[in-house]
Amino acid sequence: MNVFGVDIGGSGIKGAPVDLARGDLAEPRHKVLTPHPATPESVADGVAEVVTHFGWSGPVGITFPGVVTGSVIRTAANVDKKWIDTDAGKLLGDRLGLPVTVLNDADAAGVAEMTFGAGRGRKGTVLVLTFGTGIGSALFVDGTLVPNTELGHLELHGHDAEKHASTKVKDDEDLSWHHWAHRVQKYLAHVEMLFSPALIVVGGGVSRKSDKFLPLIEGIRAEILPAQLQNNAGIVGAAMSAAPKN
Ligand code: BGC
Repeated sequence: MNVFGVDIGGSGIKGAPVDLARGDLAEPRHKVLTPHPATPESVADGVAEVVTHFGWSGPVGITFPGVVTGSVIRTAANVDKKWIDTDAGKLLGDRLGLPVTVLNDADAAGVAEMTFGAGRGRKGTVLVLTFGTGIGSALFVDGTLVPNTELGHLELHGHDAEKHASTKVKDDEDLSWHHWAHRVQKYLAHVEMLFSPALIVVGGGVSRKSDKFLPLIEGIRAEILPAQLQNNAGIVGAAMSAAPKN
């Protein structure tokens, strides 16, 4: 069956109907730029534009780049602070007139990778990290998600880690692949010290270019794999979260 997935990111809001049997987009995705400021109202307009583009009616899963408990937003590092304490499920459900589910973006990407991608069938501790505007994390123990881990905000060299090693920082500071890979390596070493994962899956848009930086990362004991669903993992995971339960 198909369910709609929307991924709200720091730079774009993208979505598509997802074929849940294949874990892949059923149609090419539609994307609008994330409005600035990314207030609840302006982002809701963007989400509505993406969903109506397909004339969709049915359940919609939506990711958010912050902590989500139930359907309430608790943090907003890279979007407008007005989101904090907003019931996104109610706001977006009313705006779309459709049943919606809301979850953290990295958790959604992680669930998709664990089901259809690089983490499929993997037991033990697995970490899925997404590198983009921020750094997102999804922690799995024997396939079960521990939600809202927020490991992008670990302290690294006295900084919020995502302010040091996200893809946005690479672009903003015009870092070479070598220089950025070194920062990512330091970050992975820190995460490994805390969690000793057997596998680290590296996702986000930059995972398309994993050959440019993963070979430069050394000294990490965990197996490191690029995400297989690449930048569609969030959309697929969002749709999975909204699938009607039997
Ligand atoms: C947010 C996380 C999010 C990550 C990736 C971080 O700034 O705090 O919730 O998963 O960015 O978007």
